[in-house]
Amino acid sequence: MLLSNLGRVLIPALLFLVHHAASQAYDYGFDLSKLASRQATSSPFVVKGLPPVKGNIPVRQEIRQLQKSPEKWTLYILGLSMMQYMDQSDQLSWYQIAGIHGVPFQDWDGVNPTPGNEMSGYCTHISVLFPTWHRPYLALYEQVLYSLIQQIASYYEGDELTLYQNAAANFRIPYFDWATLPPAGESLLPFSVGGSATVNASGPNGVQTIANPLYTYQFKPLNSTAFIQAPYNQWLTTVRAPTSDNGTAKSNDTKIALALDRNFPSFQQRLYNLFSNYGNYSTFSNEGWIPEGQENHYDSIESLHDTIHTLTGLGGHMAWIPFSSFDPIFFLHHTMVDRVFAMWQVLYPTSWITPTPAATNSYTTSEGQIQDAQTPLTPFYANTDGTFWTSDAVRDTHVFGYSYPEIAGLNHALQRPNARAQARVRAAINRLYGGSSPASLAIGSARKRDTNGRVLPADPRSARKYPVYQPSKLEGRSWMGSPSSPRLPPAGKIITDNKYREWTANIRVIKQALEGPFFIHLFFGDPVSPNPQAWAFGPNLAGTLSVFASPPMPGMQMGGKVTSGTVPLTSELMKKVTEGEIDSLHPEVIEPYLKANLKLRVVKTDGAVVDPATVQGLKIGIVSSEVKAPASDEELPSWEGQTVHFDLI
Ligand SMILES: *[C@@H]1O[C@H](CO)[C@@H](O)[C@H](O)[C@H]1NC(C)=O
Ligand SMILES: *[C@@H]1O[C@H](CO)[C@@H](O)[C@H](O)[C@H]1NC(C)=O
Ligand SMILES: *[C@@H]1O[C@H](CO)[C@@H](O)[C@H](O)[C@H]1NC(C)=O
Ligand SMILES: *[C@@H]1O[C@H](CO)[C@@H](O)[C@H](O)[C@H]1NC(C)=O
Ligand SMILES: *[C@@H]1O[C@H](CO)[C@@H](O)[C@H](O)[C@H]1NC(C)=O
Repeated sequence: MLLSNLGRVLIPALLFLVHHAASQAYDYGFDLSKLASRQATSSPFVVKGLPPVKGNIPVRQEIRQLQKSPEKWTLYILGLSMMQYMDQSDQLSWYQIAGIHGVPFQDWDGVNPTPGNEMSGYCTHISVLFPTWHRPYLALYEQVLYSLIQQIASYYEGDELTLYQNAAANFRIPYFDWATLPPAGESLLPFSVGGSATVNASGPNGVQTIANPLYTYQFKPLNSTAFIQAPYNQWLTTVRAPTSDNGTAKSNDTKIALALDRNFPSFQQRLYNLFSNYGNYSTFSNEGWIPEGQENHYDSIESLHDTIHTLTGLGGHMAWIPFSSFDPIFFLHHTMVDRVFAMWQVLYPTSWITPTPAATNSYTTSEGQIQDAQTPLTPFYANTDGTFWTSDAVRDTHVFGYSYPEIAGLNHALQRPNARAQARVRAAINRLYGGSSPASLAIGSARKRDTNGRVLPADPRSARKYPVYQPSKLEGRSWMGSPSSPRLPPAGKIITDNKYREWTANIRVIKQALEGPFFIHLFFGDPVSPNPQAWAFGPNLAGTLSVFASPPMPGMQMGGKVTSGTVPLTSELMKKVTEGEIDSLHPEVIEPYLKANLKLRVVKTDGAVVDPATVQGLKIGIVSSEVKAPASDEELPSWEGQTVHFDLI
């Protein structure tokens, strides 16, 4: 570490690239170490953000959108690949940057652990710093990748040189939007991420087939001491839905695609509800259970984020806190979380961090220590004088030189109320995330509908709101997503006097109850498949809450910390109204229906079924709320009082 701080040089670390063509890195046709462009890094390494382009701050795009720009896409793939093939001891390698989050538990850039916290990563969980800590973390990753991309662009020649250099200057990391309906016929899991272990890259030295850097990260070599438990200490690459529990496992991304597709309506509702009904930063930001006054606020961006982690891991790296950051999908997922946070900030710009005791340790924080908006976000230096970034300092994404499509150009809207900006963000939320909520019926009811209650596609905006969600077929390889019918019942069955009822399972549980990640599945009736590993995409699944946890080890033990989250039931219940199984969402209909039909299953990510009664602290309450429907696309619904109906456990 010390050595790398003393005027370290980026390029020589890539030396072995040329010799490893067989392991599928890109062959640039020359020895990269001979190049003059030596990027000595400062000591300490400062996360300084990226420069604007002709006075504009570029946006981070959705990954499918980025893929439509061939030059940017090629540079992204080549940049990731180069970062992954850098020597693992290099401070700016994939291994070291990923390693900041969890394992290996070691200093990054010389930032020491506080006593007793040596067995942790720097990441903050169940914490008011959860959204803000990940912001400079992503900015660091973006800065490193951007720098490699500028270099790669400079290797092109002739007309291509300008083309690639322009693309490189505008490059910002993409996000994976797991709550917007994918294009017809595609799975929520982008094919570029899960579809192929190799990719053809049209680099400066011609088209070459290289290892797909979005599919897996190959350890070079694996440090089995750092990956503290089996089978992670045997897996030479990151895996998703591993095909076995020993070193021979491969990824089965089909399972990931199925699980994401099946849970899509749940992701949409949770996100839509977070934007509509979670105006307090303390509840929005993290999943810590707040005993007083939490009734309508069991969910949080962290809890929703956890469910995506566990479902994109399904027993692989993404499911475990200390291992997750090595999987390339981690950064795509977290960029989405950061975007949600930024959009939320526009809606609630004055709600911010209330000083709160840390629920758990991190590398530089001890449990119980007060965390506030000035707590140093380690190990991210803001300045060569050794000052760290703080939550206050990262409040506006512009300090790092990026924005997002929905908030582009909105300087300072993240700190001060701006009615026009809020209307614009609400319209985007309705368009992108409203489709599984009764709110979409209300907004749509101003428009023409057919006899089934579907909005007629005369207005292209409404057509986009109600696309048919198809079983997915990707480039010849079938990824059958359980089609989740978007056919909404006639508005009159759901909405009365501009109000409708939301049904929710409020869940709380001790995060480390099972010493590792697990799923809480709710079904209508018993699960159909005898194989618990198929439950995450079972046909009668009402929704899944996944608990993202750590292995049993001293530093990352989260003790008896209670976390909370939700499984929204409204979308699935609306489907049953459409199908004629039930007649409305009124309590006298739904309460007995749920009592008779709603079934609970708890299963660990390795498929072991657990008796819910033995899961420490598990409580599930079925509640409903009256919600006032939005009157236009630029409004969000407003939630009123909550009724507690019964406890499932
Ligand atoms: C790469 O190109 C080759 C030759 O055109 C083709 O056979 C192969 O399917 C391509 N691979 C991918 C992952 O697209
Ligand atoms: C492997 O990880 C362990 C534990 O984090 C660490 O002590 C050791 O130095 C690492 N080995 C190498 C070769 O980096
Ligand atoms: C790994 O697990 C698979 C599937 O359970 C099994 O078929 C195989 O024999 C195991 N290999 C080793 C080396 O244990
Ligand atoms: C991957 O998972 C799907 C869905 O469960 C299954 O049909 C397929 O056989 C699996 N493939 C492998 C190689 O295990
Ligand atoms: C937000 O929630 C926290 C934690 O429950 C509470 O202390 C704070 O007063 C709330 N803020 C507002 C403005 O209601």
